[in-house]
Amino acid sequence: MAFLILEQLAKKFGDYTAVEDFGLSVEKGEFVCLLGPSGCGKSTTLQMVAGFVQPTVGRIILDGQDITDVHPSKRGLGVVFQSYALFPHMTVADNVAFGLQMRKVPKVECHARVDEALELVQLTALAKRFPKELSGGQRQRVALARAIVVKPPILLLDEPMGALDALLRDEMQIELRELQKRIGITTIMVTHDQAEAMTLANRIVLMGNGRIQQVGAPFDMYEQPRGNFVSTFLGRANVFSGTCSGGTVVVSGRHLPAESSVITGSVDYIIRPEKVTFTTQDALVTGTVKTRVFLGHRWLYQVETPIGVVELSEANIAPPSANEGDNVGLTWSEAHVRITSQEERR
Ligand SMILES: Nc1ncnc2c1ncn2[C@@H]1O[C@H](COP(=O)(O)OP(=O)(O)O)[C@@H](O)[C@H]1O
Ligand SMILES: [Mg+2]
Repeated sequence: MAFLILEQLAKKFGDYTAVEDFGLSVEKGEFVCLLGPSGCGKSTTLQMVAGFVQPTVGRIILDGQDITDVHPSKRGLGVVFQSYALFPHMTVADNVAFGLQMRKVPKVECHARVDEALELVQLTALAKRFPKELSGGQRQRVALARAIVVKPPILLLDEPMGALDALLRDEMQIELRELQKRIGITTIMVTHDQAEAMTLANRIVLMGNGRIQQVGAPFDMYEQPRGNFVSTFLGRANVFSGTCSGGTVVVSGRHLPAESSVITGSVDYIIRPEKVTFTTQDALVTGTVKTRVFLGHRWLYQVETPIGVVELSEANIAPPSANEGDNVGLTWSEAHVRITSQEERR
């Protein structure tokens, strides 16, 4: 039996359905990211696990126990929200110790555990400081230490890096991943940032409109997105509407290659920009380079073609292959194409 089971959870606020038919099993030690656009129901789902929001339908089973009706304080889960309010009048060490004191942990053990937690988040040197004497990233680490010091069965994080600037966020992501692996704590994190989810998660749960759209390991989901929404939310993708029959897809009157597919009818024809290349012979489509932008590690091109704008991305290992205004041929391998039925879309 999985460590945490969410059984068909749903939440309605009045007539409005925020989360629907949410079913997920989480194994011990996993790092799961709930990913999706703003308002899709991520926080509501996390709050149901934490116990601050009561599900309208469904059950939550933790380690074999039904905790659906258990008070949040009795669930004993570690929670860090974006606005991680620390007690301003307490030192870092006292902030971290607070949860242990509430649980009446003996003083000696309390000291040892606070030291251990501060070491884990690399704040030992700042134990005696007050929150106002810390940077945003340091405060964020205090909040994390405070959550893990009680050794909760599950760590719940809601956009914990939302308030940090981009560079610091990248650093904290790597730190959090290392920490999670070291202590092996089962973690569920909410984020709207696909890069963050891919960096951290063993498994991504992509949500849209209150429902799970797809669940999978980052690489699998990136390579095998089920449809338009997933492919464009997770990375960039060229998505063309077409009609599939007998191993080819017709897009705007052109036959495009597709591995023999059992799907027939209206489809999304999906190809990632990094899998499109320039070619001087046997082009699948030809067109004009409309824009070229430099992303540091890659060049991104938008090419105007008869099937629509095709994005191509090229690694920055040589001078760029084309200029704006150039006429170019494009090709790609049928093995890299994903075809999904439009009828399957919900
Ligand atoms: N307490 C509430 N009362 C009414 N509507 C709510 C409440 N909490 C959330 N919602 C609505 O539910 C939807 C999902 O919210 P939320 O779970 O916070 O989304 P996310 O975290 O993915 O941005 C939103 O449309 C939001 O306005
Ligand atoms: Mg939210």
